[in-house]
Amino acid sequence: MREFDEKSITQAVIGRLSECNDPRFKSVITSLITHLHDFVRDVKLTEPEWLAAIQFLTDVGQTCTDKRQECILLSDTLGVSVLVITLNHLADEGSVESTVMGPFYWQGAPDLPRGSNLAEGVKGEPTIYSGRVLSVDGRPLENALLDIWSGDGEGNYDMQIPGETGMKARARIRTDAAGRYWFRSIKPTFYPVPTDGPVGRMLRKMGRHPFRPGHIHMIVSAPGHLPVTTHLFVAGSQYLDSDAVFGMKESLVAHFERHPAGVGPNGERMDTAYFTVSYDFRLRPDAGAPA
Ligand code: BEZ
Ligand code: FE
Repeated sequence: MREFDEKSITQAVIGRLSECNDPRFKSVITSLITHLHDFVRDVKLTEPEWLAAIQFLTDVGQTCTDKRQECILLSDTLGVSVLVITLNHLADEGSVESTVMGPFYWQGAPDLPRGSNLAEGVKGEPTIYSGRVLSVDGRPLENALLDIWSGDGEGNYDMQIPGETGMKARARIRTDAAGRYWFRSIKPTFYPVPTDGPVGRMLRKMGRHPFRPGHIHMIVSAPGHLPVTTHLFVAGSQYLDSDAVFGMKESLVAHFERHPAGVGPNGERMDTAYFTVSYDFRLRPDAGAPA
């Protein structure tokens, strides 16, 4: 057949995959073509709408720089990132739950000793974080790594602050022989995802707010275990019920307890009121890791 109608076009495009010799790619792209064509038929897409979609995707791509990933932001705000994470990290396997990585991770944060203050010169209410990293059977994991990052107490990440060129509120902290970690930073607050680009325009058109509830990010890893990219969310933070990127998980909500100025839990002098928060991370053994 050389000519196609609005139904036969789908099988015609799929048929052109007959020489494709990557079975996984072939199955994924066949499904994509099928759903895409069904979608276009379903909404009876008009030509101006199709052109607007092409322009939108072009803008999304052109907004990406070495410091900004608008494509991931699009995936995040459409719930695709969390869907992929949820399908690939089943919550019922005893491990701490994963959530979105987001665009503000910066590789190469400094390795700091336990107890360090990650937030020298960072705006926000001081907070002492502590807890343990355990295997799913409760065994403490020595030398587990927490690669930590957060915005400041006003909702800005270091890379968003004009004139700020260095890393702030970021570090890599390792656990002791009992699997314990502790460090000082600030209590994060809610903040908007970037809204000055096409994804921001999309959110406004959808009538959605752009905010994420207060959270601190970490990638938790340990020898012989599967790493997890996750957050701790601040209990009681605004927007826990409507995270703009759908990343909120109840199991990751932690209570931040307020204390008056004085001596902190590790003997540190706290000149102002401060918070403490405690959370144990569990990791699943990696069956494929060398013994
Ligand atoms: C973040 O939490 O850093 C984030 C996640 C997704 C989109 C924007 C920001
Ligand atoms: Fe964040």
